[in-house]
Amino acid sequence: MYKSRITGCGHFLPERIVKNSDLLEFMETSDEWIQERTGIEERRWIDPASGETTSTMGAKAAERAIAHAGLTKEDIDFIIFATLSPDMYFPGGGVRVQDILGMSTIGALDVRNQCSGFVYALSVADQFIKTGMYKNILVIGSENHSGGLEKSTRGRGVTVIFGDGAGAVVLSRSDDETRGLLSTHLHSEGAHAAQLSLLSPSTGRWVDEIMKDNDPDDISYYPYMNGQFVFKHAVVRFSEVINEALAVNNLTSSDIDLLIPHQANLRIAQFIQKKFGLTDDQVYNNIMRYGNTTAASIPIALSEAVDEGRVKQGDLVVMAAFGSGFTWASALFKW
Ligand code: UT7
Repeated sequence: MYKSRITGCGHFLPERIVKNSDLLEFMETSDEWIQERTGIEERRWIDPASGETTSTMGAKAAERAIAHAGLTKEDIDFIIFATLSPDMYFPGGGVRVQDILGMSTIGALDVRNQCSGFVYALSVADQFIKTGMYKNILVIGSENHSGGLEKSTRGRGVTVIFGDGAGAVVLSRSDDETRGLLSTHLHSEGAHAAQLSLLSPSTGRWVDEIMKDNDPDDISYYPYMNGQFVFKHAVVRFSEVINEALAVNNLTSSDIDLLIPHQANLRIAQFIQKKFGLTDDQVYNNIMRYGNTTAASIPIALSEAVDEGRVKQGDLVVMAAFGSGFTWASALFKW
């Protein structure tokens, strides 16, 4: 069995900054409410005139990750693309990246696990590396939330939280037994699927049905979140899946050098930080600047943490995520 490790990271964020106060243009809310409940100060939303999409942002983050790894696109054997906001219903974003970057006809796989999507994608990539099938895999998380949010007071409980952006890593085969990806842990509980969901258009409720019913209260084409329900499950599952990763590797929370939680809510990250007895320096948060970018949040945060010198060789790095599905997951690295 081979071992895998991250050899390159990159991220891309749209230039347009949307501050909390900017949201007042189209909804009743306040900077105070948003900061107090979520920690978010601003987020990036694609400027519609820019032509940027989930795939183009993913491709830009991927290019940066490949360069950071000291590789070229010819070295990449496979693409895994995680998103809940693909450019189109089908095909997915992986093939779009293959095309945009002008790569050879390598395989491209899409992962649909929302906020846990990047960690699930890492886990899939790890299996391909371990068996020796591939040497370098591009793992991308990218989201265009702003294109599909309800920009009115009715949608404020969801709309203020989400931002756009992309992050990517290259996961590579490594001969160094002492470092790399130690383990990944994946979970789901579909009984709560409806609590954080986007119901249509789907084969369960297609466009013509929505049009036929002409019901102004049918907003099933906007994301729905039962915030408090999700929050309560998130804090429990985050803790469980971090503990699981530590226990499997005979480690304890005092061994953690850096926790990169999915950026769902600063209050959730602070709860986890306290629970595991970590200092501010041991938890990487950027939700203040970018909001919740679901599958992109961990690779963006990792890429920034690496740029800032917050991850050093030999560090124990934990990634943990929870979200729609419900799904939750963790990955443990010796950097
Ligand atoms: O990434 C996937 C995982 N996601 C999460 O883990 C998110 C988990 N949930 C949360 O982060 C929080 O539940 C939210 C930040 C989404 C919401 O915070 P909350 O404290 O649970 O608020 P709430 O939904 O219970 O709403 C409280 C009040 C309501 O007013 P009333 O009914 O008490 O009069 C809402 O209408 O706040 C109102 N409200 C707002 N007010 C101003 C909801 N959204 C807003 C808003 N601005 N944007």
